[in-house]
Amino acid sequence: MQKVLELKNITKSFNKMKVLNNISFSLYSNEIIAILGDNGAGKSTLIKTLSGLVHADSGEMLVNSKKIDIKKYSISQARENGIETVYQDNSLGLEQEIHRNIFLGREITNIFGFIDIKKQKIESMKLLKGFLGLKGLGLNSSSEVSSLSGGERQGLVIARAVYFDAKLVILDEPTRSLAIKEVKKVLDFIKELKNHNKSAIFITHNILHAYEVCSRFILIDRGEIKADINKSDISVQDLQNKLINIESL
Ligand SMILES: Nc1ncnc2c1ncn2[C@@H]1O[C@H](COP(=O)(O)OP(=O)(O)O)[C@@H](O)[C@H]1O
Ligand SMILES: [Mg+2]
Repeated sequence: MQKVLELKNITKSFNKMKVLNNISFSLYSNEIIAILGDNGAGKSTLIKTLSGLVHADSGEMLVNSKKIDIKKYSISQARENGIETVYQDNSLGLEQEIHRNIFLGREITNIFGFIDIKKQKIESMKLLKGFLGLKGLGLNSSSEVSSLSGGERQGLVIARAVYFDAKLVILDEPTRSLAIKEVKKVLDFIKELKNHNKSAIFITHNILHAYEVCSRFILIDRGEIKADINKSDISVQDLQNKLINIESL
């Protein structure tokens, strides 16, 4: 199986406090894994390191078997390497039209260099109907983002990552503060990533959500990996117990 990502001994400190301590793991193509851990465990710092927002102090990172210069790594480099991140507050402009949002910073332009609005709208509609399966009355690519439900907004960001052909989609607590119905939508979108041959890292507090969509679980506590377990080797109850007793692992 092809390795999409490999981390070796990634370490990061803030004010002399080690927030990530020798983090090592690999992620394979078409694999959806969860990173589980309590508040302050280092989950967000880890994914910020992967998405170019935070520079690791030491360690190695390989994306598609290519070594990354961790000191020079940036958000745009992460994107160039096919890594897209979906944050909890998915940074969508609510009053912005959907098609503008999808193509923000990566606009489709015509031969004169102007934004090709018509093409953007057509492509956006394909995404809304295809990936998101939206048939909402009156909903179209010129609707404001605010007309989408919470789950659909997360779906939009996931669909955008698929459109731009991300290899790895990182999701930081995408189901937090969503209603149950909306959670289901987001979990379905994450599952859909597999059908598009993508890999994903799903960060969540909710073990049930992780267990439903992930095939492997990495448990972290105070910046260290405490367990890396395949779904086939653990029940949801045992996973829960492990997480509760993580300090003794
Ligand atoms: N920019 C920063 N400066 C200083 N400390 C930080 C910064 N970002 C995170 N931390 C600290 O690092 C630790 C891990 O935080 P974080 O990665 O956000 O954990 P999690 O996402 O698992 O809740 C926490 O103690 C947090 O206070
Ligand atoms: Mg966090």
